[in-house]
Amino acid sequence: MKRIGVFTSGGDSPGMNAAVRAVVRTCMHQNIVPFGIYEGYKGLIEGNIKQLSSRDVSNIIQRGGTFLRSARCKEFFAKEGRQKAFDNIKKYNLDGIVAIGGDGTFTGAKIFNEEHQIPFVGIPGTIDNDLYGTDYCIGYDTALNTVIDAVDKIRDTASSHNRLFIVEVMGRDAGFIALRSGIGVGAEAILIPETPTYIDKLIEKLKDQSTVEKQSMIIIVAEGDESGGAYKVAEQVKAKCPEFDTRVTVLGHIQRGGSPSALDRVLASRLGNAAVKALIDGKTNVMVGVLHRDISYIPFDKAIKHHQQINLDLLNLAEVLSC
Ligand code: F6P
Repeated sequence: MKRIGVFTSGGDSPGMNAAVRAVVRTCMHQNIVPFGIYEGYKGLIEGNIKQLSSRDVSNIIQRGGTFLRSARCKEFFAKEGRQKAFDNIKKYNLDGIVAIGGDGTFTGAKIFNEEHQIPFVGIPGTIDNDLYGTDYCIGYDTALNTVIDAVDKIRDTASSHNRLFIVEVMGRDAGFIALRSGIGVGAEAILIPETPTYIDKLIEKLKDQSTVEKQSMIIIVAEGDESGGAYKVAEQVKAKCPEFDTRVTVLGHIQRGGSPSALDRVLASRLGNAAVKALIDGKTNVMVGVLHRDISYIPFDKAIKHHQQINLDLLNLAEVLSC
């Protein structure tokens, strides 16, 4: 390994900058020349690639977003696009690539690697936390804290007005953000894609809860829940319980921004370092992660397909604690 390229791809997540910094500085430490590939696979196809120095990654560990920028690139899923990417890898003499992103990123890396045998190592960066083989993905912890901070504020106004708030959080296919933030804010109900949602049962629960002199109620809904999201849930609740003063908040992309938490900064630093070492050790087609505190290596195939199991005990815990 003499020259390594690094890029961020898919939805950005807080801590991606810290991971790039760790990749670049570990490269320098190992006498490897690091290259930044801008805008993910798009930059690889267009040859938007620049050598990076230690100073290029100064003062970014605390910054949200990704200074390498990110994109969801359809062109890479066509053979011609991948050929252009390969040509640029050859042009810049890159011996290996570190890809930071989620399942779309690693699906692309796997296909590319099968065609062109360029060593790829992935780092899990997605607030959704839905990759198998790592306890946490970079950005998830920060997103949770953002949600908790926002919903605490919603709780203040909800309690002042005796209202029911239905809050939608991100998670296209996964309920990790909804579940943990729901516990963290003491939500009265949590709706996630991993379990069936019965609106009638939910309404019964809300009616019961309203008899125990609660000043406010909060339902957290993952955007990918089968109910169709917060507005859809609100429609049904309003139709069946007009006595509730119901409001909806969709938190949206604020969940993807902000300065990374301590946990995300440390995780990103460890994984950036481990990814470079994995390439040096000849590993390819794997995602580095952290399992039970230790660095883990998981084939892309597994990381993408075997969706991390949601801990249903946590859902029961939320139920018990919301009385
Ligand atoms: O994958 C992360 C994520 O934030 C999902 O939770 C969400 O559904 C999606 O990205 C939104 O993507 P975009 O920013 O492209 O609209």
